[in-house]
Amino acid sequence: MNNSPIGVFDSGVGGLTVLKELADLMPNETYIYIGDNCHSPYGDKSRQELLAYTTDILSYFQTQGTDLVVMACNTTSSLVLEELRLRFDKMTIIGVIDATVEKVSQTQKERVLVMATAATIASGVYQQKIGASSYGLACPKLVPLIEQAAPQAMIEAYLKTLLEPLQGQFDQIVLGCTHYPIIQDMIGHLYPGAQLISSSEAVAHAVYQYCLQANRIASKKTARSKIYTTGALESFVLSSRSFFDYRGYDVRYLPPLTK
Ligand code: DGL
Repeated sequence: MNNSPIGVFDSGVGGLTVLKELADLMPNETYIYIGDNCHSPYGDKSRQELLAYTTDILSYFQTQGTDLVVMACNTTSSLVLEELRLRFDKMTIIGVIDATVEKVSQTQKERVLVMATAATIASGVYQQKIGASSYGLACPKLVPLIEQAAPQAMIEAYLKTLLEPLQGQFDQIVLGCTHYPIIQDMIGHLYPGAQLISSSEAVAHAVYQYCLQANRIASKKTARSKIYTTGALESFVLSSRSFFDYRGYDVRYLPPLTK
Protein backbone atom coordinates (compact mmCIF):
# COMPACT_ATOMS: atom_id res chain seq x y z
CA MET A 1 0.00 0.00 0.00
CA ASN A 2 1.12 3.51 -0.75
CA ASN A 3 0.31 6.44 1.52
CA SER A 4 1.80 9.25 -0.57
CA PRO A 5 -0.64 12.03 -1.32
CA ILE A 6 -2.18 12.31 -4.76
CA GLY A 7 -1.61 15.75 -6.30
CA VAL A 8 -4.49 17.26 -8.27
CA PHE A 9 -4.43 20.66 -9.93
CA ASP A 10 -6.24 23.09 -12.19
CA SER A 11 -6.35 26.81 -12.85
CA GLY A 12 -9.12 27.22 -10.28
CA VAL A 13 -12.26 25.51 -9.04
CA GLY A 14 -12.82 23.36 -12.15
CA GLY A 15 -10.55 20.56 -11.00
CA LEU A 16 -12.68 20.19 -7.87
CA THR A 17 -15.15 18.36 -10.14
CA VAL A 18 -12.37 15.79 -10.61
CA LEU A 19 -11.41 15.75 -6.94
CA LYS A 20 -15.04 15.13 -6.00
CA GLU A 21 -15.21 12.07 -8.30
CA LEU A 22 -11.83 10.82 -7.04
CA ALA A 23 -12.85 11.14 -3.40
CA ASP A 24 -16.07 9.21 -4.14
CA LEU A 25 -14.10 6.41 -5.80
CA MET A 26 -11.15 6.41 -3.36
CA PRO A 27 -12.26 8.04 -0.09
CA ASN A 28 -9.21 7.01 1.95
CA GLU A 29 -6.54 8.66 -0.17
CA THR A 30 -4.87 11.85 0.93
CA TYR A 31 -5.25 14.51 -1.76
CA ILE A 32 -3.47 17.80 -2.21
CA TYR A 33 -5.37 20.07 -4.56
CA ILE A 34 -4.03 23.28 -6.06
CA GLY A 35 -6.29 25.77 -7.78
CA ASP A 36 -3.87 28.18 -9.44
CA ASN A 37 -6.32 31.09 -9.41
CA CYS A 38 -3.55 33.62 -9.46
CA HIS A 39 -2.93 32.63 -13.10
CA SER A 40 -6.52 31.85 -14.07
CA PRO A 41 -7.73 31.42 -16.74
CA TYR A 42 -5.21 29.05 -18.29
CA GLY A 43 -7.16 29.00 -21.55
CA ASP A 44 -5.70 32.28 -22.82
CA LYS A 45 -2.08 31.58 -21.81
CA SER A 46 0.82 30.57 -24.04
CA ARG A 47 2.42 27.12 -23.89
CA GLN A 48 5.52 28.69 -22.30
CA GLU A 49 3.49 30.30 -19.54
CA LEU A 50 1.59 27.07 -18.86
CA LEU A 51 4.86 25.16 -18.75
CA ALA A 52 6.23 27.58 -16.14
CA TYR A 53 3.12 27.38 -13.90
CA THR A 54 2.77 23.61 -14.10
CA THR A 55 6.48 22.96 -13.56
CA ASP A 56 6.27 24.96 -10.34
CA ILE A 57 3.13 23.11 -9.25
CA LEU A 58 4.73 19.72 -9.88
CA SER A 59 7.90 20.79 -8.06
CA TYR A 60 5.72 21.71 -5.09
CA PHE A 61 3.99 18.32 -5.21
CA GLN A 62 7.43 16.72 -5.26
CA THR A 63 8.31 18.45 -1.98
CA GLN A 64 5.12 16.94 -0.49
CA GLY A 65 6.16 13.38 -1.41
CA THR A 66 3.57 13.03 -4.17
CA ASP A 67 4.18 10.22 -6.65
CA LEU A 68 0.93 10.52 -8.61
CA VAL A 69 -0.37 13.72 -10.17
CA VAL A 70 -3.75 14.21 -11.78
CA MET A 71 -3.76 17.05 -14.24
CA ALA A 72 -7.40 18.01 -13.70
CA CYS A 73 -7.23 20.47 -16.58
CA ASN A 74 -7.81 19.91 -20.28
CA THR A 75 -5.80 22.96 -21.30
CA THR A 76 -2.53 21.82 -19.70
CA SER A 77 -3.26 18.20 -20.65
CA SER A 78 -3.44 19.36 -24.30
CA LEU A 79 -0.35 21.51 -24.25
CA VAL A 80 2.26 20.49 -21.69
CA LEU A 81 1.60 16.95 -20.44
CA GLU A 82 4.30 15.25 -22.51
CA GLU A 83 6.95 17.82 -21.58
CA LEU A 84 6.11 17.50 -17.87
CA ARG A 85 6.39 13.72 -18.07
CA LEU A 86 9.95 14.23 -19.35
CA ARG A 87 10.76 16.78 -16.64
CA PHE A 88 9.28 14.71 -13.78
CA ASP A 89 10.06 11.19 -14.85
CA LYS A 90 9.77 9.73 -11.34
CA MET A 91 6.14 10.77 -11.06
CA THR A 92 3.10 9.28 -12.74
CA ILE A 93 1.15 12.10 -14.37
CA ILE A 94 -2.34 11.38 -15.65
CA GLY A 95 -3.99 13.87 -18.00
CA VAL A 96 -7.61 14.32 -19.02
CA ILE A 97 -7.62 13.98 -22.79
CA ASP A 98 -6.93 10.29 -23.40
CA ALA A 99 -9.42 9.19 -20.75
CA THR A 100 -12.10 11.41 -22.31
CA VAL A 101 -11.39 10.33 -25.88
CA GLU A 102 -11.59 6.70 -24.73
CA LYS A 103 -15.03 7.38 -23.26
CA VAL A 104 -16.14 9.03 -26.53
CA SER A 105 -14.94 6.07 -28.59
CA GLN A 106 -16.95 3.66 -26.42
CA THR A 107 -20.20 5.49 -27.24
CA GLN A 108 -19.77 5.35 -31.03
CA LYS A 109 -21.60 8.63 -31.56
CA GLU A 110 -21.12 10.15 -34.98
CA ARG A 111 -21.38 13.89 -34.52
CA VAL A 112 -19.31 15.14 -31.62
CA LEU A 113 -19.09 18.72 -30.39
CA VAL A 114 -16.10 19.46 -28.16
CA MET A 115 -16.56 22.49 -25.90
CA ALA A 116 -13.29 23.67 -24.37
CA THR A 117 -11.03 26.65 -23.71
CA ALA A 118 -9.51 28.60 -26.59
CA ALA A 119 -6.09 27.03 -25.96
CA THR A 120 -7.45 23.46 -25.91
CA ILE A 121 -9.36 23.97 -29.15
CA ALA A 122 -6.41 25.73 -30.82
CA SER A 123 -4.15 22.80 -29.90
CA GLY A 124 -6.38 20.56 -32.06
CA VAL A 125 -5.70 17.59 -29.79
CA TYR A 126 -9.32 16.56 -29.27
CA GLN A 127 -10.23 17.04 -32.92
CA GLN A 128 -7.26 14.88 -34.02
CA LYS A 129 -7.91 12.13 -31.51
CA ILE A 130 -11.69 11.94 -31.97
CA GLY A 131 -11.49 12.31 -35.73
CA ALA A 132 -13.29 14.01 -38.58
CA SER A 133 -16.72 13.72 -36.97
CA SER A 134 -15.76 16.22 -34.27
CA TYR A 135 -15.98 19.98 -34.14
CA GLY A 136 -14.14 22.16 -31.62
CA LEU A 137 -15.99 25.06 -30.04
CA ALA A 138 -13.87 27.52 -28.06
CA CYS A 139 -15.74 29.03 -25.09
CA PRO A 140 -13.25 31.63 -23.79
CA LYS A 141 -15.60 33.41 -21.39
CA LEU A 142 -16.96 30.38 -19.54
CA VAL A 143 -14.11 29.80 -17.10
CA PRO A 144 -13.95 33.48 -16.03
CA LEU A 145 -17.74 33.55 -15.58
CA ILE A 146 -17.71 30.41 -13.43
CA GLU A 147 -14.73 31.62 -11.41
CA GLN A 148 -16.51 34.92 -10.73
CA ALA A 149 -19.66 33.04 -9.63
CA ALA A 150 -21.55 35.03 -12.26
CA PRO A 151 -25.36 34.93 -12.17
CA GLN A 152 -26.92 31.96 -13.94
CA ALA A 153 -28.71 34.27 -16.41
CA MET A 154 -25.40 35.72 -17.54
CA ILE A 155 -23.83 32.29 -18.10
CA GLU A 156 -26.96 31.12 -19.90
CA ALA A 157 -26.98 34.15 -22.20
CA TYR A 158 -23.37 33.47 -23.19
CA LEU A 159 -24.02 29.76 -23.71
CA LYS A 160 -26.97 30.62 -25.98
CA THR A 161 -24.77 32.69 -28.28
CA LEU A 162 -22.43 29.70 -28.56
CA LEU A 163 -24.90 26.86 -28.88
CA GLU A 164 -27.86 28.30 -30.79
CA PRO A 165 -26.13 28.42 -34.19
CA LEU A 166 -25.20 24.73 -33.77
CA GLN A 167 -28.63 23.35 -32.80
CA GLY A 168 -29.43 19.93 -34.25
CA GLN A 169 -25.94 19.33 -35.65
CA PHE A 170 -24.46 17.14 -32.90
CA ASP A 171 -25.57 14.16 -30.83
CA GLN A 172 -22.79 14.28 -28.28
CA ILE A 173 -21.09 17.13 -26.42
CA VAL A 174 -17.71 16.65 -24.78
CA LEU A 175 -17.31 18.90 -21.75
CA GLY A 176 -13.65 19.40 -22.60
CA CYS A 177 -12.90 21.65 -19.64
CA THR A 178 -13.17 20.52 -16.04
CA HIS A 179 -15.13 23.68 -15.18
CA TYR A 180 -18.02 22.74 -17.48
CA PRO A 181 -19.55 19.89 -15.43
CA ILE A 182 -20.44 22.66 -12.93
CA ILE A 183 -22.87 24.06 -15.52
CA GLN A 184 -23.75 20.84 -17.30
CA ASP A 185 -27.47 21.15 -16.49
CA MET A 186 -27.56 24.48 -18.32
CA ILE A 187 -25.68 23.04 -21.29
CA GLY A 188 -28.01 20.01 -21.43
CA HIS A 189 -31.04 22.28 -21.23
CA LEU A 190 -29.81 24.60 -24.00
CA TYR A 191 -28.79 21.74 -26.30
CA PRO A 192 -31.46 19.07 -25.79
CA GLY A 193 -30.97 15.57 -27.13
CA ALA A 194 -27.18 15.47 -26.97
CA GLN A 195 -25.31 13.09 -24.69
CA LEU A 196 -22.86 14.91 -22.43
CA ILE A 197 -19.43 13.41 -21.77
CA SER A 198 -17.63 14.82 -18.74
CA SER A 199 -13.85 14.95 -18.92
CA SER A 200 -13.83 15.13 -15.10
CA GLU A 201 -15.66 11.84 -14.70
CA ALA A 202 -13.56 10.21 -17.42
CA VAL A 203 -10.21 11.12 -15.84
CA ALA A 204 -11.32 10.16 -12.34
CA HIS A 205 -12.24 6.68 -13.57
CA ALA A 206 -8.93 6.37 -15.40
CA VAL A 207 -7.06 7.31 -12.20
CA TYR A 208 -9.10 4.78 -10.23
CA GLN A 209 -8.25 2.05 -12.74
CA TYR A 210 -4.57 3.00 -12.55
CA CYS A 211 -4.61 2.85 -8.74
CA LEU A 212 -6.38 -0.51 -8.74
CA GLN A 213 -3.81 -1.97 -11.10
CA ALA A 214 -0.90 -0.43 -9.22
CA ASN A 215 -2.32 -1.75 -5.93
CA ARG A 216 -2.16 1.79 -4.63
CA ILE A 217 -5.53 2.22 -2.93
CA ALA A 218 -5.42 3.11 0.76
CA SER A 219 -7.53 0.95 3.04
CA LYS A 220 -7.78 3.55 5.79
CA LYS A 221 -7.49 7.31 6.08
CA THR A 222 -4.12 8.42 7.45
CA ALA A 223 -4.16 12.20 6.91
CA ARG A 224 -6.49 15.06 6.04
CA SER A 225 -6.62 16.21 2.45
CA LYS A 226 -5.74 19.78 1.59
CA ILE A 227 -7.15 22.25 -0.88
CA TYR A 228 -5.11 25.30 -1.78
CA THR A 229 -5.83 28.28 -3.94
CA THR A 230 -3.20 30.75 -5.09
CA GLY A 231 -5.96 33.37 -5.35
CA ALA A 232 -8.48 34.87 -2.96
CA LEU A 233 -9.75 32.15 -0.64
CA GLU A 234 -13.19 33.66 -0.14
CA SER A 235 -14.07 33.87 -3.82
CA PHE A 236 -12.65 30.37 -4.42
CA VAL A 237 -15.04 28.94 -1.85
CA LEU A 238 -17.89 31.13 -3.10
CA SER A 239 -17.62 29.87 -6.68
CA SER A 240 -17.40 26.20 -5.66
CA ARG A 241 -19.55 25.68 -2.61
CA SER A 242 -22.67 24.92 -4.68
CA PHE A 243 -21.12 21.69 -5.97
CA PHE A 244 -18.26 20.85 -3.60
CA ASP A 245 -18.52 19.69 0.00
CA TYR A 246 -15.52 21.01 1.94
CA ARG A 247 -16.09 18.89 5.04
CA GLY A 248 -13.02 16.78 5.72
CA TYR A 249 -10.63 19.13 3.88
CA ASP A 250 -8.24 21.80 5.09
CA VAL A 251 -8.71 24.80 2.79
CA ARG A 252 -6.03 27.47 2.62
CA TYR A 253 -4.40 30.21 0.60
CA LEU A 254 -1.07 29.22 -0.96
CA PRO A 255 1.25 32.03 -2.11
CA PRO A 256 1.65 31.81 -5.90
CA LEU A 257 4.34 29.29 -6.86
CA THR A 258 5.29 31.11 -10.07
CA LYS A 259 6.20 34.74 -9.46
N1 DGL B 1 -10.42 23.60 -16.07
C1 DGL B 1 -9.47 24.02 -17.08
C2 DGL B 1 -9.56 23.08 -18.25
O1 DGL B 1 -9.99 21.95 -18.08
C3 DGL B 1 -9.72 25.46 -17.35
C4 DGL B 1 -8.59 26.18 -17.95
C5 DGL B 1 -8.71 27.68 -17.82
O2 DGL B 1 -8.42 28.18 -16.75
O3 DGL B 1 -9.01 28.35 -18.81
O4 DGL B 1 -9.20 23.39 -19.34
